[in-house]
Amino acid sequence: MFNTELIVIDETGIENNVMERAGKILKEGGLVAFPTETVYGLGGDGLNKESAKKIYAAKGRPSDNPLIIHISKFEDLGKIVKSIPEEVERLAEAFWPGPLTMILPKSEQVPYETTGGLDTVAVRMPSHPVALAFIEASGGYVAAPSANTSGRPSPTLAKHVMEDMQGKIEMILDGGSVEIGLESTIVDLSCEVPTILRPGYVTKDMLEKVLGEVALDQTTLDLNSQEIPKAPGMKYKHYAPQGELTIVTGESKNVIAKINQLTKEAYKRNDKVGVIATEETQSQYCAKIVKSVGKRRAEEEIARHLYAILREFDEEQVEVIYSESFEGSEMGQAIMNRLLKAAGHKMIKC
Ligand code: TXA
Ligand code: MG
Repeated sequence: MFNTELIVIDETGIENNVMERAGKILKEGGLVAFPTETVYGLGGDGLNKESAKKIYAAKGRPSDNPLIIHISKFEDLGKIVKSIPEEVERLAEAFWPGPLTMILPKSEQVPYETTGGLDTVAVRMPSHPVALAFIEASGGYVAAPSANTSGRPSPTLAKHVMEDMQGKIEMILDGGSVEIGLESTIVDLSCEVPTILRPGYVTKDMLEKVLGEVALDQTTLDLNSQEIPKAPGMKYKHYAPQGELTIVTGESKNVIAKINQLTKEAYKRNDKVGVIATEETQSQYCAKIVKSVGKRRAEEEIARHLYAILREFDEEQVEVIYSESFEGSEMGQAIMNRLLKAAGHKMIKC
Protein backbone atom coordinates (compact mmCIF):
# COMPACT_ATOMS: atom_id res chain seq x y z
CA MET A 1 0.00 0.00 0.00
CA PHE A 2 1.30 3.44 -0.94
CA ASN A 3 0.25 6.81 0.29
CA THR A 4 -0.36 7.98 -3.30
CA GLU A 5 0.70 11.59 -3.70
CA LEU A 6 -1.40 13.76 -6.05
CA ILE A 7 0.53 16.73 -7.40
CA VAL A 8 -1.21 19.43 -9.41
CA ILE A 9 1.11 20.68 -12.13
CA ASP A 10 0.75 24.19 -13.44
CA GLU A 11 3.01 25.64 -16.09
CA THR A 12 5.70 26.42 -13.51
CA GLY A 13 5.42 22.98 -11.90
CA ILE A 14 7.26 21.60 -14.89
CA GLU A 15 10.26 23.69 -13.98
CA ASN A 16 10.50 22.99 -10.28
CA ASN A 17 11.72 19.91 -8.44
CA VAL A 18 8.49 17.93 -8.90
CA MET A 19 9.75 16.36 -12.11
CA GLU A 20 13.03 15.49 -10.47
CA ARG A 21 11.17 13.67 -7.69
CA ALA A 22 8.86 11.90 -10.13
CA GLY A 23 11.84 10.87 -12.26
CA LYS A 24 13.66 9.53 -9.19
CA ILE A 25 10.67 7.34 -8.31
CA LEU A 26 10.79 5.81 -11.79
CA LYS A 27 14.54 5.29 -11.80
CA GLU A 28 14.20 3.46 -8.49
CA GLY A 29 11.59 1.12 -9.96
CA GLY A 30 8.41 2.86 -8.75
CA LEU A 31 5.29 3.98 -10.63
CA VAL A 32 3.99 7.49 -11.46
CA ALA A 33 0.82 8.31 -13.41
CA PHE A 34 1.06 11.29 -15.77
CA PRO A 35 -1.06 13.19 -18.29
CA THR A 36 -0.62 12.79 -22.02
CA GLU A 37 -2.65 14.44 -24.78
CA THR A 38 -4.63 11.19 -25.29
CA VAL A 39 -5.33 9.69 -21.83
CA TYR A 40 -3.44 9.47 -18.53
CA GLY A 41 -0.60 6.92 -18.50
CA LEU A 42 0.66 4.69 -15.71
CA GLY A 43 4.44 5.07 -16.00
CA GLY A 44 7.27 2.77 -15.03
CA ASP A 45 10.85 2.38 -16.29
CA GLY A 46 10.49 0.77 -19.73
CA LEU A 47 13.89 -0.90 -19.54
CA ASN A 48 13.33 -2.45 -16.09
CA LYS A 49 11.48 -5.75 -16.07
CA GLU A 50 10.52 -5.39 -12.41
CA SER A 51 8.74 -2.11 -13.23
CA ALA A 52 6.74 -3.84 -15.96
CA LYS A 53 5.63 -6.48 -13.46
CA LYS A 54 4.52 -3.74 -11.04
CA ILE A 55 2.49 -2.04 -13.78
CA TYR A 56 0.64 -5.28 -14.57
CA ALA A 57 -0.06 -5.80 -10.87
CA ALA A 58 -1.34 -2.24 -10.29
CA LYS A 59 -3.70 -2.47 -13.28
CA GLY A 60 -4.73 -6.06 -12.70
CA ARG A 61 -3.69 -6.56 -16.33
CA PRO A 62 -2.71 -9.87 -17.96
CA SER A 63 1.06 -9.84 -18.50
CA ASP A 64 0.78 -10.96 -22.14
CA ASN A 65 -0.61 -7.52 -22.97
CA PRO A 66 2.40 -5.41 -24.02
CA LEU A 67 3.14 -1.84 -22.90
CA ILE A 68 3.95 1.24 -24.97
CA ILE A 69 7.36 2.84 -24.35
CA HIS A 70 7.15 6.63 -24.33
CA ILE A 71 10.16 8.68 -25.43
CA SER A 72 10.77 12.43 -25.44
CA LYS A 73 13.30 12.77 -28.30
CA PHE A 74 13.62 11.04 -31.66
CA GLU A 75 17.33 10.41 -30.97
CA ASP A 76 16.31 8.06 -28.14
CA LEU A 77 14.45 5.69 -30.49
CA GLY A 78 17.58 3.91 -31.76
CA LYS A 79 18.33 2.26 -28.44
CA ILE A 80 15.05 0.34 -28.21
CA VAL A 81 14.44 -0.74 -31.83
CA LYS A 82 16.48 -2.94 -34.21
CA SER A 83 16.67 -0.33 -36.93
CA ILE A 84 14.96 2.87 -38.03
CA PRO A 85 13.51 2.51 -41.54
CA GLU A 86 13.07 5.69 -43.54
CA GLU A 87 9.25 5.48 -43.26
CA VAL A 88 9.57 5.74 -39.49
CA GLU A 89 11.49 8.98 -39.89
CA ARG A 90 8.75 10.30 -42.15
CA LEU A 91 6.01 9.30 -39.71
CA ALA A 92 7.85 10.85 -36.80
CA GLU A 93 8.36 14.02 -38.80
CA ALA A 94 4.62 14.20 -39.52
CA PHE A 95 3.07 13.03 -36.23
CA TRP A 96 5.57 13.13 -33.35
CA PRO A 97 5.29 14.39 -30.75
CA GLY A 98 1.66 13.30 -30.91
CA PRO A 99 -1.00 10.57 -30.68
CA LEU A 100 0.68 7.93 -32.87
CA THR A 101 2.24 4.68 -31.61
CA MET A 102 4.54 2.70 -33.90
CA ILE A 103 5.22 -1.04 -33.57
CA LEU A 104 8.78 -2.00 -34.56
CA PRO A 105 11.14 -4.94 -34.03
CA LYS A 106 12.68 -4.43 -30.57
CA SER A 107 16.35 -4.26 -29.59
CA GLU A 108 17.85 -6.39 -26.84
CA GLN A 109 17.65 -3.46 -24.43
CA VAL A 110 13.90 -3.90 -24.09
CA PRO A 111 12.90 -6.64 -21.65
CA TYR A 112 10.28 -9.18 -22.73
CA GLU A 113 8.31 -8.23 -19.62
CA THR A 114 7.65 -4.83 -21.23
CA THR A 115 6.61 -6.30 -24.58
CA GLY A 116 4.49 -9.12 -23.19
CA GLY A 117 6.91 -11.66 -24.67
CA LEU A 118 6.83 -10.18 -28.20
CA ASP A 119 9.88 -9.41 -30.38
CA THR A 120 8.34 -6.06 -31.29
CA VAL A 121 7.99 -2.92 -29.19
CA ALA A 122 5.37 -0.17 -29.26
CA VAL A 123 6.84 3.36 -29.16
CA ARG A 124 5.24 6.76 -28.87
CA MET A 125 6.42 10.33 -28.33
CA PRO A 126 3.54 12.17 -26.64
CA SER A 127 3.08 15.92 -27.10
CA HIS A 128 1.86 16.88 -23.62
CA PRO A 129 4.51 19.14 -22.05
CA VAL A 130 4.16 17.44 -18.65
CA ALA A 131 4.63 14.02 -20.25
CA LEU A 132 7.73 15.18 -22.13
CA ALA A 133 9.31 16.73 -19.01
CA PHE A 134 8.50 13.63 -16.96
CA ILE A 135 9.97 11.21 -19.55
CA GLU A 136 13.10 13.31 -19.73
CA ALA A 137 13.45 13.30 -15.92
CA SER A 138 12.88 9.53 -15.80
CA GLY A 139 15.80 8.56 -18.01
CA GLY A 140 14.04 8.67 -21.38
CA TYR A 141 12.05 5.40 -21.58
CA VAL A 142 8.70 5.33 -19.79
CA ALA A 143 6.53 2.23 -20.25
CA ALA A 144 2.94 3.31 -19.80
CA PRO A 145 -0.43 1.75 -20.40
CA SER A 146 -3.53 3.81 -19.76
CA ALA A 147 -3.73 4.46 -16.00
CA ASN A 148 -7.02 2.63 -15.41
CA THR A 149 -7.75 -0.65 -13.72
CA SER A 150 -7.82 -3.26 -16.50
CA GLY A 151 -11.28 -3.33 -18.09
CA ARG A 152 -12.40 0.14 -16.93
CA PRO A 153 -12.62 3.18 -19.22
CA SER A 154 -9.27 4.97 -19.68
CA PRO A 155 -8.72 8.01 -17.43
CA THR A 156 -9.12 11.46 -18.94
CA LEU A 157 -8.83 13.30 -15.60
CA ALA A 158 -6.45 12.83 -12.65
CA LYS A 159 -9.48 12.09 -10.49
CA HIS A 160 -10.18 8.98 -12.63
CA VAL A 161 -6.61 7.82 -12.01
CA MET A 162 -7.06 8.40 -8.28
CA GLU A 163 -10.25 6.26 -8.32
CA ASP A 164 -8.37 3.31 -9.82
CA MET A 165 -4.78 3.69 -8.54
CA GLN A 166 -4.96 5.19 -5.06
CA GLY A 167 -2.78 3.15 -2.72
CA LYS A 168 -1.24 1.19 -5.62
CA ILE A 169 1.30 3.70 -7.00
CA GLU A 170 3.63 6.34 -5.58
CA MET A 171 2.51 9.49 -7.39
CA ILE A 172 -0.02 11.03 -9.77
CA LEU A 173 0.86 14.14 -11.78
CA ASP A 174 -2.36 16.10 -12.30
CA GLY A 175 -2.19 18.04 -15.56
CA GLY A 176 -5.95 18.68 -15.75
CA SER A 177 -8.23 17.38 -18.45
CA VAL A 178 -6.63 15.66 -21.47
CA GLU A 179 -7.05 17.09 -24.95
CA ILE A 180 -7.98 14.10 -27.11
CA GLY A 181 -9.64 11.62 -24.75
CA LEU A 182 -9.08 8.39 -26.74
CA GLU A 183 -5.87 6.35 -26.83
CA SER A 184 -3.30 6.84 -29.61
CA THR A 185 -3.53 5.33 -33.08
CA ILE A 186 -1.36 2.19 -33.24
CA VAL A 187 0.33 1.37 -36.54
CA ASP A 188 2.29 -1.85 -36.98
CA LEU A 189 5.40 -1.26 -39.11
CA SER A 190 6.88 -4.69 -38.48
CA CYS A 191 4.77 -6.26 -41.26
CA GLU A 192 4.83 -5.82 -45.03
CA VAL A 193 1.94 -3.36 -45.33
CA PRO A 194 1.71 -0.88 -42.43
CA THR A 195 -1.39 -1.88 -40.50
CA ILE A 196 -3.55 0.08 -38.08
CA LEU A 197 -4.14 -2.08 -35.01
CA ARG A 198 -6.08 0.56 -33.07
CA PRO A 199 -7.77 3.59 -34.67
CA GLY A 200 -7.28 6.98 -33.01
CA TYR A 201 -6.85 10.69 -33.66
CA VAL A 202 -4.37 10.02 -36.48
CA THR A 203 -6.63 8.53 -39.14
CA LYS A 204 -5.96 6.07 -42.01
CA ASP A 205 -6.15 8.97 -44.50
CA MET A 206 -3.55 10.94 -42.58
CA LEU A 207 -1.21 7.92 -42.46
CA GLU A 208 -1.71 7.15 -46.15
CA LYS A 209 -0.58 10.66 -47.09
CA VAL A 210 2.79 9.81 -45.55
CA LEU A 211 3.09 6.06 -46.19
CA GLY A 212 1.07 5.19 -49.26
CA GLU A 213 -0.92 1.99 -48.72
CA VAL A 214 -2.08 1.38 -45.14
CA ALA A 215 -4.24 -1.53 -43.98
CA LEU A 216 -6.75 -1.58 -41.14
CA ASP A 217 -6.78 -4.65 -38.91
CA GLN A 218 -10.27 -5.95 -39.58
CA THR A 219 -10.87 -6.87 -35.97
CA THR A 220 -10.93 -3.16 -35.02
CA LEU A 221 -14.43 -2.60 -36.37
CA ASP A 222 -15.86 -5.81 -37.75
CA LEU A 223 -18.66 -6.95 -35.49
CA ASN A 224 -18.52 -10.56 -36.51
CA SER A 225 -14.81 -11.12 -36.83
CA GLN A 226 -13.63 -14.31 -35.21
CA GLU A 227 -10.00 -13.37 -35.74
CA ILE A 228 -7.74 -12.58 -32.83
CA PRO A 229 -6.67 -8.92 -32.91
CA LYS A 230 -2.96 -8.30 -33.55
CA ALA A 231 -2.71 -5.82 -30.67
CA PRO A 232 -3.09 -8.24 -27.77
CA GLY A 233 -4.85 -5.61 -25.65
CA MET A 234 -7.68 -5.32 -28.14
CA LYS A 235 -8.91 -8.85 -27.46
CA TYR A 236 -9.91 -8.08 -23.89
CA LYS A 237 -13.26 -6.60 -22.94
CA HIS A 238 -12.17 -3.07 -22.45
CA TYR A 239 -13.21 0.47 -21.72
CA ALA A 240 -16.31 -1.02 -20.23
CA PRO A 241 -18.75 0.62 -17.84
CA GLN A 242 -20.37 -1.53 -15.16
CA GLY A 243 -23.84 -1.13 -16.69
CA GLU A 244 -24.81 -3.17 -19.73
CA LEU A 245 -24.23 -0.98 -22.77
CA THR A 246 -26.12 -1.35 -26.07
CA ILE A 247 -25.53 0.83 -29.14
CA VAL A 248 -28.54 1.72 -31.25
CA THR A 249 -27.87 2.68 -34.86
CA GLY A 250 -30.05 3.93 -37.72
CA GLU A 251 -31.82 7.13 -38.71
CA SER A 252 -31.90 9.59 -35.83
CA LYS A 253 -35.66 9.63 -35.26
CA ASN A 254 -35.79 5.80 -35.30
CA VAL A 255 -32.91 5.60 -32.85
CA ILE A 256 -34.66 7.99 -30.44
CA ALA A 257 -37.91 6.02 -30.66
CA LYS A 258 -36.11 2.70 -30.14
CA ILE A 259 -34.12 3.94 -27.14
CA ASN A 260 -37.27 5.39 -25.58
CA GLN A 261 -39.06 2.06 -26.06
CA LEU A 262 -36.12 0.13 -24.55
CA THR A 263 -35.99 2.60 -21.66
CA LYS A 264 -39.67 2.04 -20.83
CA GLU A 265 -39.12 -1.73 -20.91
CA ALA A 266 -36.12 -1.38 -18.62
CA TYR A 267 -38.07 0.78 -16.17
CA LYS A 268 -40.70 -1.99 -15.99
CA ARG A 269 -37.88 -4.31 -14.86
CA ASN A 270 -36.84 -1.64 -12.34
CA ASP A 271 -33.46 -1.15 -14.03
CA LYS A 272 -31.64 2.15 -13.66
CA VAL A 273 -31.18 3.51 -17.20
CA GLY A 274 -28.64 5.93 -18.71
CA VAL A 275 -28.66 7.29 -22.26
CA ILE A 276 -25.70 8.59 -24.27
CA ALA A 277 -27.08 11.30 -26.53
CA THR A 278 -25.89 14.39 -28.40
CA GLU A 279 -26.64 18.11 -27.90
CA GLU A 280 -29.15 17.93 -30.72
CA THR A 281 -31.12 14.96 -29.37
CA GLN A 282 -30.78 14.95 -25.59
CA SER A 283 -34.12 16.65 -24.88
CA GLN A 284 -36.00 13.96 -26.79
CA TYR A 285 -35.28 11.04 -24.47
CA CYS A 286 -37.60 9.91 -21.70
CA ALA A 287 -34.89 8.38 -19.48
CA LYS A 288 -34.15 10.21 -16.22
CA ILE A 289 -30.39 10.11 -16.82
CA VAL A 290 -29.42 11.42 -20.25
CA LYS A 291 -25.88 12.62 -20.97
CA SER A 292 -24.75 14.53 -24.04
CA VAL A 293 -21.30 13.71 -25.40
CA GLY A 294 -21.34 16.89 -27.48
CA LYS A 295 -22.55 18.08 -30.85
CA ARG A 296 -22.93 15.25 -33.35
CA ARG A 297 -20.56 16.79 -35.87
CA ALA A 298 -17.94 17.73 -33.29
CA GLU A 299 -16.19 14.37 -33.25
CA GLU A 300 -13.25 15.67 -31.27
CA GLU A 301 -15.61 16.83 -28.53
CA ILE A 302 -17.35 13.44 -28.48
CA ALA A 303 -14.01 11.63 -28.20
CA ARG A 304 -12.95 13.88 -25.32
CA HIS A 305 -16.11 13.25 -23.28
CA LEU A 306 -16.86 9.57 -23.90
CA TYR A 307 -14.79 7.89 -21.18
CA ALA A 308 -15.71 10.42 -18.48
CA ILE A 309 -19.39 9.81 -19.22
CA LEU A 310 -18.97 6.04 -18.98
CA ARG A 311 -17.34 6.56 -15.57
CA GLU A 312 -20.15 8.89 -14.45
CA PHE A 313 -22.65 6.12 -15.20
CA ASP A 314 -20.60 3.83 -12.95
CA GLU A 315 -20.71 6.40 -10.14
CA GLU A 316 -24.47 6.68 -10.50
CA GLN A 317 -24.74 2.89 -10.55
CA VAL A 318 -26.59 2.85 -13.84
CA GLU A 319 -27.50 -0.73 -14.79
CA VAL A 320 -28.47 -0.37 -18.44
CA ILE A 321 -27.00 2.11 -20.93
CA TYR A 322 -28.30 2.91 -24.42
CA SER A 323 -26.09 4.89 -26.75
CA GLU A 324 -26.53 6.56 -30.09
CA SER A 325 -23.90 5.42 -32.60
CA PHE A 326 -21.12 7.60 -34.02
CA GLU A 327 -19.88 6.34 -37.38
CA GLY A 328 -18.18 9.55 -38.50
CA SER A 329 -15.48 10.18 -41.05
CA GLU A 330 -12.55 11.40 -38.97
CA MET A 331 -12.38 10.32 -35.32
CA GLY A 332 -15.63 8.42 -35.87
CA GLN A 333 -13.84 5.13 -36.42
CA ALA A 334 -11.93 5.45 -33.18
CA ILE A 335 -15.06 6.45 -31.26
CA MET A 336 -17.05 3.50 -32.63
CA ASN A 337 -14.14 1.09 -32.03
CA ARG A 338 -14.08 2.01 -28.32
CA LEU A 339 -17.86 2.13 -27.98
CA LEU A 340 -18.26 -1.30 -29.61
CA LYS A 341 -15.72 -2.76 -27.22
CA ALA A 342 -17.40 -1.10 -24.24
CA ALA A 343 -20.67 -2.64 -25.43
CA GLY A 344 -19.12 -6.07 -25.94
CA HIS A 345 -20.27 -5.51 -29.56
CA LYS A 346 -23.99 -5.33 -28.67
CA MET A 347 -25.64 -3.24 -31.34
CA ILE A 348 -29.26 -2.87 -32.48
CA LYS A 349 -29.96 -1.65 -36.03
CA CYS A 350 -33.25 0.14 -36.61
O1 TXA B 1 -2.62 6.90 -25.98
C1 TXA B 1 -2.06 5.88 -25.58
O2 TXA B 1 -1.53 5.07 -26.37
C2 TXA B 1 -2.00 5.65 -24.07
C3 TXA B 1 -1.13 6.75 -23.46
C4 TXA B 1 -0.89 6.55 -22.00
O3 TXA B 1 0.05 6.86 -24.18
N1 TXA B 1 -1.50 4.34 -23.77
C5 TXA B 1 -2.23 3.21 -23.99
O4 TXA B 1 -1.62 2.05 -23.55
O5 TXA B 1 -3.33 3.22 -24.49
P1 TXA B 1 -2.40 0.69 -23.36
O6 TXA B 1 -1.40 -0.22 -22.73
O7 TXA B 1 -3.64 0.93 -22.62
O8 TXA B 1 -2.66 0.19 -24.80
C6 TXA B 1 -1.59 -0.28 -25.58
C7 TXA B 1 -2.08 -1.17 -26.68
C8 TXA B 1 -2.58 -2.51 -26.18
O9 TXA B 1 -3.76 -2.85 -26.90
C9 TXA B 1 -1.42 -3.44 -26.54
O10 TXA B 1 -1.86 -4.75 -26.73
C10 TXA B 1 -0.88 -2.81 -27.80
O11 TXA B 1 -0.97 -1.43 -27.53
N2 TXA B 1 0.53 -3.14 -28.03
C11 TXA B 1 1.59 -2.77 -27.27
N3 TXA B 1 2.74 -3.30 -27.73
C12 TXA B 1 2.41 -4.01 -28.84
C13 TXA B 1 3.14 -4.80 -29.77
N4 TXA B 1 4.46 -4.96 -29.66
N5 TXA B 1 2.45 -5.40 -30.76
C14 TXA B 1 1.11 -5.24 -30.89
N6 TXA B 1 0.36 -4.51 -30.03
C15 TXA B 1 1.00 -3.90 -29.02
MG1 MG C 1 -5.60 0.75 -22.01
